[in-house]
Amino acid sequence: MKAKITLAKEFKIADIDRRIYGSFIEHLGRAVYGGIYEPNHPTADENGFRTDVIELVKELNVPVVRYPGGNFVSGYNWEDGVGPVEKRPKRLDLAWGTTEPNTFGTNEFMKWCKKVNAECMMAVNLGTRGADEARNLVEYMNHKGNSAWADLRKSHGYSEPWGVKLWCLGNEMDGAWQMCAKTAVDYGRLANEASKMMKWTDGSIETVLCGSSSRNSPTFGEWEAQSLEIAYDSIDYVSLHQYYENRAGDTPSFLAKTLELEEFIYSVICVCDYIKAKKRSKKTVNLSFDEWNVWYHSDNAPYERWSYSPPRLEDIYNFEDALLTGSMLITLLRHCDRIKIACLAQLVNVIAPIFTKNGGGVFKQTIFYPFEHLSNYGRGAALNPIINCPKYDCKQFCDVPYLESIATLDEENGEMAVFIVNKSQDDFADIEIKLLDLKGYERDEFISMDGFSKDEVNGFELSPVAPHKNVLPPKEDGKISLHVKPFSWNVLRLKKK
Ligand code: AHR
Repeated sequence: MKAKITLAKEFKIADIDRRIYGSFIEHLGRAVYGGIYEPNHPTADENGFRTDVIELVKELNVPVVRYPGGNFVSGYNWEDGVGPVEKRPKRLDLAWGTTEPNTFGTNEFMKWCKKVNAECMMAVNLGTRGADEARNLVEYMNHKGNSAWADLRKSHGYSEPWGVKLWCLGNEMDGAWQMCAKTAVDYGRLANEASKMMKWTDGSIETVLCGSSSRNSPTFGEWEAQSLEIAYDSIDYVSLHQYYENRAGDTPSFLAKTLELEEFIYSVICVCDYIKAKKRSKKTVNLSFDEWNVWYHSDNAPYERWSYSPPRLEDIYNFEDALLTGSMLITLLRHCDRIKIACLAQLVNVIAPIFTKNGGGVFKQTIFYPFEHLSNYGRGAALNPIINCPKYDCKQFCDVPYLESIATLDEENGEMAVFIVNKSQDDFADIEIKLLDLKGYERDEFISMDGFSKDEVNGFELSPVAPHKNVLPPKEDGKISLHVKPFSWNVLRLKKK
């Protein structure tokens, strides 16, 4: 196929908030125990953190990590996870049917965040608990001292406040699977009161209202409208969650899911702005896409009920999953004027780009790479490319562009990047990239992932699915000719000379 991508500075969407490259660690399966924390592991540091995992998280360059759930948070007593470890209770976790030992808690997580250079996005329990416990946690984490909860933190050995800026007001409170699920009105009232009290405790924090648990939720739309109507003035972001699957083995439809994702994003923006209009408000509520990924490979995997950190949700990702996750993150960036935070769910072992063996090694899943490229090279401002390319029809969608693309421009460092997915399973794409008012930007590096079957996976022994560098594409005045393989992930990096 022949295609054209036109780029100009003027096509700027917005400056990218780096928190769009966030991720998520939940007390679930082996995300914490055996994932980021394994005191007896040969690579464990003085805190029991696996340093082999820390190294890979650093490669992903994740600026923010959501914690401690997820569904888990709706039954969590944060007080169980602080103070002397030997005094911490073991609790049944009703969300995932396991036993939580609480040997890893909030302060341990904050220490781990420092090691990986990430900020914490803390979720409070608005399921079994409420505004009081939430504001107490803000005091414990962020108040300097001379108050009961801040002094308790000090007595636990942390004299300085952690200064957590970003707070989720519960998790997926519309879902029947959630402990103490709520109606939109009940949730809106609770979130509003909790957010008010949390902000009275620390005026510098930002809060995220739970949107629907996915676009497929029966109350989607109405949930956002009703809860926002109540809580609009006291919150800063509304959350979106979405996972995709390819159970039917229909790759063209699977890769086209970004069209649906785009609709989802538009709809939530519209609801936010509808409430803004209704309230004649000057404030704009932005989006926190704090759970997104592919999730289905591990469905129905058996586990032992009430055991400690059994393997759960351990999807092994294949190559087509890498193409979809790359396309999803591109789609989020196309809306970075409104999406300020996003979290790839999750980070280690549980539907994750990093996979470990207890007591053993670690490998990078296929989805690791597109995320790593975007997070490291997709900096500065996002530019909306004009893409001229053929389209296809499939079972679930019509008019799906074969190419998915976004460009980023980091003027401060004189760097640009163009990210392209070719969704065609058979066709090469000869792409002419035209740079309109971007004088002096020269080709620097051309990286691809291609030549793999859609089912190819990585593992501990062999990890064939990895990127490689290409010969630099030919260049003429103001344009670059890129020869892109079928079914591929591509990154063209440019530098200002
Ligand atoms: O990320 C796994 C689970 O998916 C989370 O706990 C929940 O919020 C969502 O349903």
